[in-house]
Amino acid sequence: MPKMITFKKIGNQEIGYLSFFESNKEVDFDVKRIYYTYDVPVGVQRGMHAHKELKQLVWCPYGCVEFILDNGKEKKTYILDKPNEGLYIDRGFWRDIYFKKEGSVLCVAVSDYYNEEDYIRSYDEFKTLSDSGYWNDENRFSPIDSE
Ligand code: TYD
Repeated sequence: MPKMITFKKIGNQEIGYLSFFESNKEVDFDVKRIYYTYDVPVGVQRGMHAHKELKQLVWCPYGCVEFILDNGKEKKTYILDKPNEGLYIDRGFWRDIYFKKEGSVLCVAVSDYYNEEDYIRSYDEFKTLSDSGYWNDENRFSPIDSE
């Protein structure tokens, strides 16, 4: 299930802060790739895909980014606007991403190397796979968790 994760925050106002996360601790995968999106005009929609197997941790070190996650049955909105908060996204969730503030930076740590074959870029295909039980993981259809 997707969930918001609050990272440890080390430091103080005088010297600033440091946050971190580690493979197989805050996230249940080995981080194999990190990418980031930036200089995205406010209001532009990105994402619009799901992944067959890829797991992700997304965070916004500066600015504000909105994620709308869809498990094939219901949608939930998550706001990333704190440098010490991340959103864990399990396999099989459609995501729509909106940059809400100029200069926002979106960072993503993921469980595998880039592979276009893992992407589902058609919502109809996503819905068909979801309804067929392709991601029939435990709790998949429980209400999407937050906080
Ligand atoms: P995409 O994941 O669709 O970005 P977003 O969800 O932010 O809109 O990727 C955009 C393009 O970048 C697409 O052509 C694939 C390419 N890409 C890579 O080549 N390597 C990567 O690691 C990623 C994430 C994307």
